[in-house]
Amino acid sequence: MKIETLLTSIGRSPEEHEGAVNPPVYHASTILFPTLADFEAAEKAGWPLVYGRSGTPTVRELEAALAELDGAECAIVTSSGLAAIVIALTATLSNGDHLLIPDSLYGSARKFCDQELTRYGIEVTYYDPLVGAGITSLMKPNTKVIYIESPGSLTFEVQDIPAIVKAAHAKNAIVIADNTWATPLYLRTVEMNVDICIHSCTKYIGGHSDLVMGLITHSKKFNPQLRRTYRNLGAAIGADEVYFASRGLRTLAVRLKQHQETAFILAKWLAARPEVVKVLHPGLPSCPGHDIWKRDFKGASGLFSILLKPYPHKALAAMLDGLEHFGMGFSWGGYESLIIPFTPERTATPSWTHDGLCIRIHAGLEHPDDLIADLKKGFERLNGAA
Ligand SMILES: Cc1ncc(COP(=O)(O)O)c(C=O)c1O
Repeated sequence: MKIETLLTSIGRSPEEHEGAVNPPVYHASTILFPTLADFEAAEKAGWPLVYGRSGTPTVRELEAALAELDGAECAIVTSSGLAAIVIALTATLSNGDHLLIPDSLYGSARKFCDQELTRYGIEVTYYDPLVGAGITSLMKPNTKVIYIESPGSLTFEVQDIPAIVKAAHAKNAIVIADNTWATPLYLRTVEMNVDICIHSCTKYIGGHSDLVMGLITHSKKFNPQLRRTYRNLGAAIGADEVYFASRGLRTLAVRLKQHQETAFILAKWLAARPEVVKVLHPGLPSCPGHDIWKRDFKGASGLFSILLKPYPHKALAAMLDGLEHFGMGFSWGGYESLIIPFTPERTATPSWTHDGLCIRIHAGLEHPDDLIADLKKGFERLNGAA
């Protein structure tokens, strides 16, 4: 079955719900056990359904759907993408362990590593996202986890996942990868032997900028420890978020196709602009790791960055403030176009030396002609105020 078809069928069973196309939503904290025998049977089974915080039938249905989508044995949905990262790292690392993370890491995950994990005696080392097989030389006897985010969601370096997985597994380290940008449609991390995969469903899976949710897909081997940490950290998810995410799934393939097409149109147009020094879109040769993207990915989503020449702050304000179709806001993956300026945080890659402006763009579902016209006027304002 092709993935477009799969998306229309997973996580729903009309025959069990009076023919209703979509599954019902269980708003439940307390789960009642009709008899003591039922109570004891549930206890014996490890409490598969016991209390809203640890999952309801609504949650379980989406988890099964997302595991199937990713080709994974198990899935856990979490209260945010960041919670998924926190749970995956907390479940796999202990005091005295060493963690390798890419210098291009998503900012809030970086804060969690620097401000929380280090307090628990976990050694954190940043590595150049383009290190590839060279990761071996950074591994120590206590390296337990190598974390990957490919491409980085600000600077878009595409990482050599197979090389890193090979190096990690040769020394018994676990690989955790954030696959939010590509989604399971455009990168098959399970087939690449990544051990644990993270997604922020807030982005493309939700797709409508109205929910915050995360996902951890993984094999049965890692399920008990991930589930335990999930429960112990109290990272529950609300029923309505789960429902919105399962609704988002139905249109994921068509939305991504359009995000991809529009982002390529914008990226190519931007590459020809005199104000732009470089376009960081994994699908273009100007992006570090483009050849790896061609080798490993099945597509590109709608998020990419551009590096501009130096301009005064007032010129940037003139450009961004007047945009009609690009909202200035964090997150991405919704139907709307977004734009933000950014300054990458770097500790392991002194080679990052751009001295102009950095701008990240999310190509939404508007018509590309309108987006280009908007950006064109934006550049006129940028130049006019420079
Ligand atoms: C690559 C990436 N991973 C994870 C997250 C965290 O997701 P959430 O906002 O759902 O916590 C984000 C959020 O922007 C992200 O960009």
